[in-house]
Amino acid sequence: MLAAGGASAPSATPSAGPRAEGVAVASSREPPRHLPADAPAALRPALARAEDAIRAAACDVERRFGEGDPDANAARCDSAREVPGIEVGRTSARLRNPANAAPAWARAYVAETDGKKAAGVPAMAFDLGDRVGLLRPIELRKRCLGCHAAPERTAASTRAWLARAYPDDRAWGYALGDLRGFWWADAPKVPGER
Ligand code: HEC
Repeated sequence: MLAAGGASAPSATPSAGPRAEGVAVASSREPPRHLPADAPAALRPALARAEDAIRAAACDVERRFGEGDPDANAARCDSAREVPGIEVGRTSARLRNPANAAPAWARAYVAETDGKKAAGVPAMAFDLGDRVGLLRPIELRKRCLGCHAAPERTAASTRAWLARAYPDDRAWGYALGDLRGFWWADAPKVPGER
């Protein structure tokens, strides 16, 4: 009896093709996150490129404003080069410049770490499907205080300049060691694919 009257064949095609394990990321708003040291092997190459891209950007800010990566000494910056195809930026839960708003995948972590000391906040990697996101904490150092401490402890001329340039400024009131924000990078898992 082979009456396979083709009418009711459901459209569930038996072989949708093999799909790599662990790619069920699609609809969750908050992508899977990992401490970079514990990240799955598949994420590591992109994470390394993301880290390089952040280092290059931090060195660049350091050179231009003396405010980028306080740990960026000359040796680390000598070898730092821009990494093509990787988006990089700085962000914070309390922004000075609204244009530095965190990308969607980073928002939850940026919000939940606000108000902490930087030493208590680890870097975090995010599996974004075909891309990898990386957040690296930025600590408030002594030389940041002039522009990010409590307003009454900063120079009136600085406050006036910043008030003019950044009318929605929320980046005041930080103390030494506070988490000021993050560097973020968004790197394709396959280099060059974006
Ligand atoms: C001379 C004043 C000045 C000093 C000193 C300074 N900043 Fe800033 N900071 C700014 C300005 C202006 C912006 C907005 C820049 C922009 O438009 O992207 C900013 C933005 C940032 C942002 C991006 C997020 C945001 O709020 O827009 C971070 C993170 C940050 N600063 C961290 C630091 C750290 C860490 C230090 C010390 C190592 C530091 N800053 C020292 C003036 C300063």
